[in-house]
Amino acid sequence: MPYSVAVAGASGYAGGEVLRLLSAHPELQVRTATAHSHAGQRLIDVHPHLRSLASLDLVETTASTLAGHDIVVLALPHGASGALAAELPDDVLVLDLGADHRLTSEADWDRFYGGEWHGAWAYGLPELVHAGSGRQRDALAGARRIAVPGCNVTAVTLGLAPGIRAGVIEPGDLTAALAVGPSGAGRSLKTELLASELLGSASPYAVGGVHRHIPEILQNLAVAGAETPTISFTPVLVPMSRGILATLTARLVPGTSAAAVRDAWVDAYASEHFVHVLPEGRFPKTADALGANTALMGVAVDADACRVVVVVAIDNLVKGTAGAAVQSLNIALGLDETLGLPLDGVAP
Ligand SMILES: NC(=O)c1ccc[n+]([C@@H]2O[C@H](COP(=O)([O-])OP(=O)(O)OC[C@H]3O[C@@H](n4cnc5c(N)ncnc54)[C@H](OP(=O)(O)O)[C@@H]3O)[C@@H](O)[C@H]2O)c1
Repeated sequence: MPYSVAVAGASGYAGGEVLRLLSAHPELQVRTATAHSHAGQRLIDVHPHLRSLASLDLVETTASTLAGHDIVVLALPHGASGALAAELPDDVLVLDLGADHRLTSEADWDRFYGGEWHGAWAYGLPELVHAGSGRQRDALAGARRIAVPGCNVTAVTLGLAPGIRAGVIEPGDLTAALAVGPSGAGRSLKTELLASELLGSASPYAVGGVHRHIPEILQNLAVAGAETPTISFTPVLVPMSRGILATLTARLVPGTSAAAVRDAWVDAYASEHFVHVLPEGRFPKTADALGANTALMGVAVDADACRVVVVVAIDNLVKGTAGAAVQSLNIALGLDETLGLPLDGVAP
């Protein structure tokens, strides 16, 4: 018997991508898809690419429509999942793709989000290296509540954590500049996301330490061993529908060799199926990760500037959210971690 799944927020981009991955998963069956303004419509009319799920209709998002499933995936705007999740039985595996259960600090929640704080759940980034030894996947085995990371957070965390854990970069002077596609902002209509505003232009937003993903990144880097990390984080919206290219820099710990830097990243991810460090001198493009559950990265030492530079590419909708959710639920259920997840991308 396959595990039964309900996906809330199924009319959105993240929910749609969860459905795409789940439709090919051998151990899971999507039984229910819910929406808000699109409730009452056929799923196929909202997501015409999801042909194998054509029999599903979108129903209202309530605790009762989500009841009776083994797994519930919440792909809702932040603030909408906390109260709903609290109504679901403890033995149901619930994954929240929004921010409601990611932050361990209520003060950070108040400062960057506001509204009621619902507490932190097990954090769904399996490859996050912990200070000393261990990885985040250890915290996911058997979990019944999982907070899936933010998409930018995934790229920045995976790119910087190995250097923090190995002690080869200084955690107090980190920078992150990200090129991001507009699907990361969801499907609802916003003027700045119109093609006429986006095409032929690159638009910075949330500049100057105000982006909501900053406290989550710092929380993760602390898990990797940073005592007082700080990061200057600047995202730039660019005209590609999906993808994040994160260019990260950090001050090199004096006396560290280029070989020790490279070893820190290669050792951290040598046994990982989805996180790949490219050969020396190679750097990823977002197109290389399109449609795949991969995080691809290149690492360089800029000796003149005394900085390490890491370039990370992910697909925001796969490794950045839906893929991370499926990977985490596989671990939670004791399934093969890679089930239903694409290693290969779509090109060109
Ligand atoms: N997009 C990404 O790359 C990405 C990456 C990581 C995490 N996430 C997170 O995933 C969540 C969903 O993002 P998204 O990009 O899929 O957004 P989206 O495309 O705007 O979809 C939002 C979904 O939530 C539903 N919804 C809206 N308001 C609601 C409410 N008050 N109550 C219940 N349902 C409501 C919408 O239903 P209707 O359309 O029917 O109104 C839609 O199904 C967000 O928390 C986001 O931060 C997204």
